[in-house]
Amino acid sequence: MIEITIRGVRPEDLDRITEIESVCFPATEAAQRESFRERIAAFPEYFLVAEADGILIGFINGCVTNSAVIYDELFHSTSHHIPDGKNLTVFGLDVIPEYRNLGIAAQLMNHFIQLAKDTGRRSVILTCKERLVHYYESFGYVNNGISGSTHGGSQWFDMTLVLG
Ligand SMILES: CC(C)(COP(=O)(O)OP(=O)(O)OC[C@H]1O[C@@H](n2cnc3c(N)ncnc32)[C@H](O)[C@@H]1OP(=O)(O)O)[C@@H](O)C(=O)NCCC(=O)NCCS
Repeated sequence: MIEITIRGVRPEDLDRITEIESVCFPATEAAQRESFRERIAAFPEYFLVAEADGILIGFINGCVTNSAVIYDELFHSTSHHIPDGKNLTVFGLDVIPEYRNLGIAAQLMNHFIQLAKDTGRRSVILTCKERLVHYYESFGYVNNGISGSTHGGSQWFDMTLVLG
């Protein structure tokens, strides 16, 4: 298995994160540099990156909310982050194409789920495309059907992982 390091984000990761996001998502869905800058400032503890050979190859990030599901405003303003809220959200999970199918996203997700447990959250919530529903189910997420989110003009599914 490939050796990777998972660590907390640093302000100097901003440009590389923005670049990775633009590779992983279409322009209509990709978060922009300013949005990442705000997130890194507002909730760095919920922003993990993966490194291989000293190069940043992927990341996961999200905020905390009392909402049971993701809603679009969450993506657009860090003012919706409620530090002592019940649910940890996943805004995005990105791994660059050259490092896919090696379990790196799974390692990022498992660290994120552990973070949610360690900070006493009730659940982890995310939205995903239909093709990834089975992937998130493999972590124990339950599919709650089509999301109210129309982020980037796409159809999304609400997924919830209830923590024991
Ligand atoms: C979705 C995404 C994050 C997955 O990243 P990844 O690191 O390739 O994910 P994993 O390696 O954990 O799992 C991917 C597949 O590889 C398989 N896999 C995991 N470890 C493996 C290994 N050691 N050897 C071979 N296959 C493996 C997984 O079972 C999974 O297969 P499945 O799709 O049939 O379930 C990545 O493709 C990506 O960034 N996509 C674009 C952005 C996106 O859509 N993000 C998610 C929406 S928020």
